[in-house]
Amino acid sequence: MKVLIFETAEAAEYAVAEIVASEVSTRPETVLGLATGGTMLPVYARLCALRSEGLSFAKVTSFNLDEYVGLSSQHPESYHSYMREVLFDHIDILPENCHLPKGDAADVRAECLAYEDKILAHGGIDLQLLGIGRNGHIGFNEPSSSLGSLTRVKTLTESTRQANAPYFTDQEAPKYAITMGIRTILNARTCVLLATSAAKAQAVAQAVEGPLSAICPASALQMHAKTTVVLDRSAAAELRHRDYYGQVHPHGAVHAL
Ligand code: PGA
Repeated sequence: MKVLIFETAEAAEYAVAEIVASEVSTRPETVLGLATGGTMLPVYARLCALRSEGLSFAKVTSFNLDEYVGLSSQHPESYHSYMREVLFDHIDILPENCHLPKGDAADVRAECLAYEDKILAHGGIDLQLLGIGRNGHIGFNEPSSSLGSLTRVKTLTESTRQANAPYFTDQEAPKYAITMGIRTILNARTCVLLATSAAKAQAVAQAVEGPLSAICPASALQMHAKTTVVLDRSAAAELRHRDYYGQVHPHGAVHAL
C-alpha cells in the first residue's frame, strides 16, 4: 500500500486528479471505477478543467460504485444525477460508456448480477477511485460486509443515512443501496482511495494499520497489490506510522526506484 500524505486537502485532491488524468492520457480506453460523495467533488472539478485543456475521455468507460435503491436515474439526489452534474456533462465521455447500477430496476438482484457481468465483459476495472466512510465503508459496503462480496443490495447504517440526510430535502435518505462488493473492488487492477479531513482520520487508521476485518471494510485494501491511499494531514493524523510514510513519500511525492 502506498500512503501519500499531503499538507492540504487541495494538494491531495489535485494528486488524485493527476493520477486519473495520467491514466486516461496513457491509456485512452481505460475502464475507470468512479466514486461519489463530497470528497470527490474537487477531483471531478479538476478533471473538468483538464478536459478544457484538451484531456479526452472519448474512449473511456466508467462504472460507478453504487446507487440508491428506489431512485431513478433522473432523481436529483441519485448518483446518476450527481455524476452528470459534476463530471459527465462537462467532459467528452460517451453517455453509453457510463455505467451505474439502476436503483429503480424492477428486479434489483438481477440488476446486481448484470452489473457484475457488465464489468467483466469490459475486461474489468483498470483504476478504481474510492472514498471512505467514517465507519470505514468503501462503496456502500457497510461494516460486516463480506470481504468476498460482489455487487449486491446493502442496508445502509444509521450513521451513513445521517451523513447522507443533508442531500435529501424532500424525503428521507434511502435505506438501501446497490453497491459493488469488496471482491468487486479488489478485482480492480489499481485502487486509489482519497480521504481528507479529521472526520476520516480514525477510519483511515483502521483501514491502513488496523487488522484486516469486515468491521472496517476498507481494511480489505491491505489485500490489494496496487492500492494508493491519498490523504491530507488531518486525515492522516491517527496513523501510527505516518512519519515512515512521509519518509518513503516526502510530501506525497512518488519516486521511481
Ligand atoms: P464523503 O463520502 O466523500 O461524502 O465523505 C465518502 C464515502 O462515504 O465513501
